[in-house]
Amino acid sequence: MNILVASPISSNTIEKLREQHDLICAFNENDSLLKGLLQDREILIFRSGVRITAEIMENAPDLKLLVRAGSGTDNVDLDYVQRRGISFFRIAEPGAQAVAEMSFALMLALARNLVQANDLTRQGRWAKQMLIGSSLRGKVLGIVGAGNIGSRVGQLGAAWGMEPLGCVEHASRTVADDLHCKGIRLTDFDEVVCRADFLSVHVPLKNSTRNLINDKVLSRVKDGSFLINLARGGVIDELALLKHLKNGARLRGAALDVHQEEGEGKISPLAELPNVILTPHIGAMTRDAQQEIGRTIESIVDTFTTTHDTCTQERAFATVVT
Ligand code: MLT
Repeated sequence: MNILVASPISSNTIEKLREQHDLICAFNENDSLLKGLLQDREILIFRSGVRITAEIMENAPDLKLLVRAGSGTDNVDLDYVQRRGISFFRIAEPGAQAVAEMSFALMLALARNLVQANDLTRQGRWAKQMLIGSSLRGKVLGIVGAGNIGSRVGQLGAAWGMEPLGCVEHASRTVADDLHCKGIRLTDFDEVVCRADFLSVHVPLKNSTRNLINDKVLSRVKDGSFLINLARGGVIDELALLKHLKNGARLRGAALDVHQEEGEGKISPLAELPNVILTPHIGAMTRDAQQEIGRTIESIVDTFTTTHDTCTQERAFATVVT
């Protein structure tokens, strides 16, 4: 098969696929280059950081399979994929656990002033008194989007002795029961926002969630609380967040792994603030998660290669969560 890998994935997987396929890699390329490279490709493998638009795919008549090596689908035109009957696989699970763990890395870093502690200690400052922090135990963990990733965060929070509260877009008795089993109480967005000591955001980016955490919401968060975003940059209005943090408003600090503008050379407007931690979209970047995603890609491509001749249009649009 002709394969284009448009984002960095496990190098072992690239080597293995190369043994049996005509594979080209093009990471962080612009739309027009991607469009040209995709022209004769049958399979496209990608992560966040590239936009897989209808315009790009229209130029690739042989394109039969898209593999999203991760969870988010905000960077691919799924309506077009479905219309054209291109098979679509999403590999959500390995990254989900890594992102949930990263939420705790960020929560702890905020709660215990780890970035400042590291900076000061390296400068020879012994700022023990100044660096007093907060414990997680006994604190309210508010999860905006208690789905696959958010509910893992809540489950981990329960194990730390936190009080996890979660909200979802479509609440139901089944969802409430499921979350209850994980130690999370399902409630509404307002209660999550107003009661959380740590407000962790895990919703996908779509029309209904764009700028969900805006000026109005930020003025209602609990005094002294922390905000953590591992979802997508567009879910938080960054300029509103900057205003709130600058004016010493209710939020004590924020940690953002995802940003409105991402990529080499991009600097968040929040970078000027000492009470903000910024990381470059590394939630799913553990060796373990990426290797597991790589192995899943290999098996999807193997299966697809051996069966695609008999694939019918009805089977074409599928989501596989491993
Ligand atoms: C994801 O959606 O899985 C994450 O954003 C990781 C990524 O694709 O880079």
